[in-house]
Amino acid sequence: MAVVVSRSERETLDLGRAVGGALERGDLIGLAGPLGAGKTVLVRGIAWGVGADPAAVRSPTFVLHHVYTGGRITLHHLDLYRLGSGTDIAFLDLEHQLESGAVLVEWGDHADLSPLRSMPVGFEIARDDSRVITLDSAAAPDRVRRAWRIGTPRT
Ligand SMILES: Nc1ncnc2c1ncn2[C@@H]1O[C@H](COP(=O)(O)OP(=O)(O)OP(=O)(O)O)[C@@H](O)[C@H]1O
Ligand SMILES: [Mg+2]
Repeated sequence: MAVVVSRSERETLDLGRAVGGALERGDLIGLAGPLGAGKTVLVRGIAWGVGADPAAVRSPTFVLHHVYTGGRITLHHLDLYRLGSGTDIAFLDLEHQLESGAVLVEWGDHADLSPLRSMPVGFEIARDDSRVITLDSAAAPDRVRRAWRIGTPRT
């Protein structure tokens, strides 16, 4: 596990930016953690890192699926919150999305993404309001692990 303590929205954006610099088409990241934990902020940083427009990134809670183009790779941004836990993702056709870009799934723990080799990222809100963000590094390729280290704030 690779743990980052983020003390500000900016630090989470910077972590995402580093990760976005390393993502490739076919990568899948599942983001899990409570409301307001910073999942969308990390996705915004990732969009920045791939060279897409970070201002376009919004929680797709009502739309389910956003696509960000204009960067080095296409990003698909999904949010399973409204679908609830135990969602069967077959209808989402993630395989097809992975062929065209990288896929970022908020509330990824609402579905079983493991057959698609997802990299799980967990968020916790600490008592002091910092965000503890954990990458399951065993599930991530070297280039993403390295980017995660680069994006880790210095204390
Ligand atoms: N260290 C931090 N990292 C990220 N966001 C932070 C941090 N500290 C405070 N915040 C604030 O927390 C909020 C995170 O919101 P965000 O929309 O990213 O959450 P979310 O996990 O996507 O929630 P939801 O499940 O509702 O989609 C923002 O208002 C942000 O400014
Ligand atoms: Mg969100």
